[in-house]
Amino acid sequence: MIVCKSAAELEKMRAAGRALARVLEAVATKVAPGVTTLELEAVAEKEIAAAGAQPAFKGYRGYPCVLCTSVNEEIIHGIPSERKLQRGDLVSIDVGVKLDGFYADGATTVALQPVEPETARLVAVTREALALGVAQARAGGYLADISAAIQQHVEAAGFNVVREFVGHGIGTALHEEPTVPNYVAPGKGRGPRLAAGMVLAIEPMVTTGSPEVKIRPDRWTAVTADGGIAAHFEHTVAVTENGPWILTQP
Ligand code: MF3
Ligand code: CO
Repeated sequence: MIVCKSAAELEKMRAAGRALARVLEAVATKVAPGVTTLELEAVAEKEIAAAGAQPAFKGYRGYPCVLCTSVNEEIIHGIPSERKLQRGDLVSIDVGVKLDGFYADGATTVALQPVEPETARLVAVTREALALGVAQARAGGYLADISAAIQQHVEAAGFNVVREFVGHGIGTALHEEPTVPNYVAPGKGRGPRLAAGMVLAIEPMVTTGSPEVKIRPDRWTAVTADGGIAAHFEHTVAVTENGPWILTQP
């Protein structure tokens, strides 16, 4: 069952989303050569507390941190560590918060300049794919419109969308129905019809090479099977009568 949120609930989710945007911005600003991903974790922890919010990821199925920091061939769920970021690295930062009973989930990818032109293009295409997916979060449309918009843009650019991980509904739980794939499965139909009050975490994960995934022995970090790099952007988006409302917009 897809839970639709009332106007008052959406206002609460917007407050959570706004808090999340501030956390993500503070962390992204801190990214620089020589900074460890654990230092990013510390910034996030402090900003979440300052917002009066709770971290959504720490303790979720035993996940140890408030942030996921995924570098280069790491796609998602990278665990912050003493690893120092370097010029040329691509780091995706994923964070979730809970405020006043509601969750927000968001991610961004930051390139440590100078990066290869292909890396810069991957970041741009993934960011655009998210925007195109968000634009399809319309009442009366179908879930697969979102998936198709993302997949088409990514594949037209010569990149690939990851299949193993998907976006999701979000609200009083971090993960609610429906799942929000970044691809369309032929013959599987257009998915549920979108209605005002639905809230979706839309999160394209895009690879330069094969989209096939491996999990590291830490049992969290998802990496590309072929060692190609990956980018990840995510917004929490409400479907409204007036179109998509990006709750995690700054
Ligand atoms: N954005 C990811 C998701 O929606 C992050 C989850 S990380 C976890 O699943 F640690 F909470 F699992
Ligand atoms: Co998510």
